[in-house]
Amino acid sequence: MAERRRRRGEEAPSRIPGLVQVLVVIWLGSLACDAANVGISAMFGPDTGYGNKYRTVINDGVLYVNRNQTFLGGIHTLEFVDHDNIIPSNSTYLGLQDVCQHIATEQISALILPADRCPDHDDIAGVVSHGSNPVFSIDQGNYGSGSKAFKLYPTPEDMTEFYIDVMSYFAWRSFIMLYDDESAFANTEGLLEYASSQEWNVTSVVLDEDDFENNVPTIEGEKTKNIFIICTSEIVLRTTINRAIDLGIMGPKYTWMIGNLDLAMDRTFMETLEDTNAYITRFNMNYTRDWQYALPTTGSSQFTEWTFRERNAYDAAIAIGHALRKYRLKREADGVVGSSVLPGDTPMPACPSSPSIVATNVLTSYLQNISFEGITGNVAFNDIGDRINYTITIYSGQGESVHQIRGIWTQNVEHWENTWNRKWESEGKLNVTNYNYGNDRRIKIVTIESEPFLFKRENYLELRREQNSILNGRRKRQIQTGPYTGNDRYDGYMMDLLSRIKAYMRGIDFEYEVELVPDGKYGHKSKYSKKWDGMIGEVLRKKADIAAAPITITKERLADVEFTDSFMSGGIKLLLKNPYYIDHNPFRLLHPFGIEVWFINLGTFLIVAGILCLINYFDPYEWKAAAERGETFEENGRTFSWKNSLWYCTTTLFLQGYDRGPRSNAGHTLTAFWWVFVLVMVFVYLFNLPGKINTNKRLVYIKNADDLTNQADVNIGTVYDGSIHWYLFKSGIPAYNRIWQRMYHNPAKVYVENTTVGIQRVRDSNGKYAFLGESGELEYAASQRPCDLIVSGGFVDRSTYAMVVAKGSPLGDHLSYAIETLRDTGVLEDLQREWWGLDRNYYQRCRNLTRYERMGMFSFTVSDLEGIYFFLLLGFAISILVFVLELMVCGCKGKDGRTGNSSGGRQQNGKRTFGGIGSSKSGGKKAASSGGGGVGSGGGGGNDANLWI
Ligand SMILES: *[C@@H]1O[C@H](CO)[C@@H](O)[C@H](O)[C@H]1NC(C)=O
Ligand SMILES: *[C@@H]1O[C@H](CO)[C@@H](O)[C@H](O)[C@H]1NC(C)=O
Ligand SMILES: *[C@@H]1O[C@H](CO)[C@@H](O)[C@H](O)[C@H]1NC(C)=O
Ligand SMILES: *[C@@H]1O[C@H](CO)[C@@H](O)[C@H](O)[C@H]1NC(C)=O
Ligand SMILES: *[C@@H]1O[C@H](CO)[C@@H](O)[C@H](O)[C@H]1NC(C)=O
Repeated sequence: MAERRRRRGEEAPSRIPGLVQVLVVIWLGSLACDAANVGISAMFGPDTGYGNKYRTVINDGVLYVNRNQTFLGGIHTLEFVDHDNIIPSNSTYLGLQDVCQHIATEQISALILPADRCPDHDDIAGVVSHGSNPVFSIDQGNYGSGSKAFKLYPTPEDMTEFYIDVMSYFAWRSFIMLYDDESAFANTEGLLEYASSQEWNVTSVVLDEDDFENNVPTIEGEKTKNIFIICTSEIVLRTTINRAIDLGIMGPKYTWMIGNLDLAMDRTFMETLEDTNAYITRFNMNYTRDWQYALPTTGSSQFTEWTFRERNAYDAAIAIGHALRKYRLKREADGVVGSSVLPGDTPMPACPSSPSIVATNVLTSYLQNISFEGITGNVAFNDIGDRINYTITIYSGQGESVHQIRGIWTQNVEHWENTWNRKWESEGKLNVTNYNYGNDRRIKIVTIESEPFLFKRENYLELRREQNSILNGRRKRQIQTGPYTGNDRYDGYMMDLLSRIKAYMRGIDFEYEVELVPDGKYGHKSKYSKKWDGMIGEVLRKKADIAAAPITITKERLADVEFTDSFMSGGIKLLLKNPYYIDHNPFRLLHPFGIEVWFINLGTFLIVAGILCLINYFDPYEWKAAAERGETFEENGRTFSWKNSLWYCTTTLFLQGYDRGPRSNAGHTLTAFWWVFVLVMVFVYLFNLPGKINTNKRLVYIKNADDLTNQADVNIGTVYDGSIHWYLFKSGIPAYNRIWQRMYHNPAKVYVENTTVGIQRVRDSNGKYAFLGESGELEYAASQRPCDLIVSGGFVDRSTYAMVVAKGSPLGDHLSYAIETLRDTGVLEDLQREWWGLDRNYYQRCRNLTRYERMGMFSFTVSDLEGIYFFLLLGFAISILVFVLELMVCGCKGKDGRTGNSSGGRQQNGKRTFGGIGSSKSGGKKAASSGGGGVGSGGGGGNDANLWI
């Protein structure tokens, strides 16, 4: 810079000689010196001076202004005039003298003054500001200071209003106020006045800067768990917070409000705050990233870690740049050009002679008109230098939700509306409407009846009286006469869960109102109107803030609403009638074939026997012909008599041995085909048989969707238009789609109105109907009397249940956090156990199945197989009948036919003498029977012959 000045000064003399030359040099030199540089300065104290951080910050601001030609037009430069002496002054007088000296020796246009420059007078900037050049203060000011400095920190008056608004919103009626020094205390004067006028109980505690531990007994001795902390020094604030975390004061039991604005937040600190689990409210100046152009040029990535005061110092430098720009533009518009556009500095009076004499500097009036977005939000000042037109964002939450925006507070509603081009939605300066529905802060919860998640109270009482059983433990309820009102109308897992969640959502007034969803649906998006119905629709249309029910997380729903952390996992399961309780048709054994198949098979059987008989009769190669030719015993000729043909077919039918096969090729051929027929029939029958006997049993152990479609005997159904119905339809998984198609095209109308109807239908359908539903509801139903239902062991599909809030609702994070905490602390598990009957005597009965009942669920029981027993009994009966018939027939034939018969037998024996075995077998038998003349025992063969032929 100096070099440039010198060069400019040297160019001129080459043309102008002598004295003039010298004069011009001086004139030009002074012009260049005065006009081309605008000096600003800053002084530092013990907090601000060390480590040169503030120098870097202000230099960075200066650099930014100089780089952007729109500020000073490229002709001028902003120059940071350093003041090396950082030793703070020990008295106001010394402080003032120090500052004035600095101003007097350096010609500067503006001065940035931190409070620690003169600890004895924390508003030294306020004192100096009564001089003529602008002074910037970067710290909290004093109540009613009368300071004319440009105050980057919002005024104590504004902050008081702000704190009162926020505390009233959070309904704080008592709190402990921690502060580090008198200046911080003085800043809360207005707040304390208000608090005492409202009879709030405030205990103020001055921080022990050496060790916070000394403050702990006082804090723990207080009843209130609300802590408000405000410190002049952000360093003290941080140390205190870290110490409080160590000592458990900043922990889940406490609700903190950090009064300092715009706490520097690096990643570790954010995580530390999350980990404390305390409910923390903190405040940041609001900025909008897209407008914020005054970003630091060097070290820019860490600027969020600058303290608020450092950021204020930066913005002060930028503010000067903006004021100079306005001034330059005005001068240029007036026709001034070149380096004389900026007139140089108006020297500040060495020291303000009296506060009443206020000198004015041209820059001051321009500074009163600037408005830009700096790194501390919108920067603008009114005519006494107070910061205006800014907005503060309020963050509050616990754990991960600690970064949740709770609301915004704006210093100037009109400005906010102009900036955002939106209507301010609240009456005061604090707006939480967008963040916490409804000013009345009653959260509306929509839910659905679904036992045991939620049910109407009367039902529960009836149930209890009916069962006449004693409830033990926490769930003991008063039997109340008269109708229930409000939330008392409902009971169930969800109600318990909500009350636990409420306990974990401290810091906000979480009053809630539970209502049933009018249309009784979970929520489905219409294909045509694209509108959601059910609970999802209620939340989307802001009729409710939360939908609390076992709502399944689906992709489609996720697109439009926000889910909290899931509170339970479940899935689609199948409810069946317990096979043990199914009344069977004893003749299910016949079911593998239709009745017409049975008749046709019987006909086939007879026809085959008949044809065999005919072949035997006519075919010359058959037994009959052979016997006639004497090639074999005469008796063998009757191998395929009508009766024997039937027997032959019967034995082959059951794959048993037969006496003799056909001899002829025709007989062989027929037999071969008959065998094939039999084989196929038998296997088809056997293959289908187990399925007919144990269809339900197979469903008990389904593992996946395919198991459902691999059977056809049990109709599977679900709620019409319900989430499962749509899920199966839309999932895109072929197996699910098959189930859907099965259901949709099933002529048996498998859809039901709701789960209750579905469960009843399973009970009534004697195993012919199974119901797909959410596992939670089904398991509860199965645990209920009369214990005739079971839920299949496997999930058709797994899913998780969660609550639903509108997109972007801050409730989401809070709920998630509360749910997560409940899970971590085991409360969720306890609740589930409590409601799903593991703890309750009278629900347990369904779990205590007898050994036989349990076996009945997977083994074949007598009732499964009774058909075959009946069949055998039938066999006994028929054979006895035949036996009796035979006795009768033989009895009457005995008188006239015995001799003829026996002589015939002898003849046979005499005539034909063939192979020893054959003859001794049949012949011998015959001989014995006829010889003995025994009617009952031995004469089977002979009698048969007489009977059938
Ligand atoms: C320079 O500053 C002006 C406002 O004075 C701003 O609009 C512009 O974006 C800045 N340019 C750069 C390069 O930062
Ligand atoms: C201010 O007082 C402290 C001790 O109280 C002393 O160390 C320091 O030198 C003093 N500074 C000035 C500028 O007098
Ligand atoms: C303040 O404390 C007193 C005594 O502990 C108590 O009676 C009173 O209700 C408290 N006031 C408020 C607003 O909490
Ligand atoms: C500023 O306020 C708006 C809402 O008015 C909010 O969306 C934005 O996140 C806030 N910005 C910061 C940095 O707090
Ligand atoms: C503050 O905002 C108001 C309302 O938009 C506006 O009229 C006023 O000019 C702003 N003040 C400054 C200094 O920008």
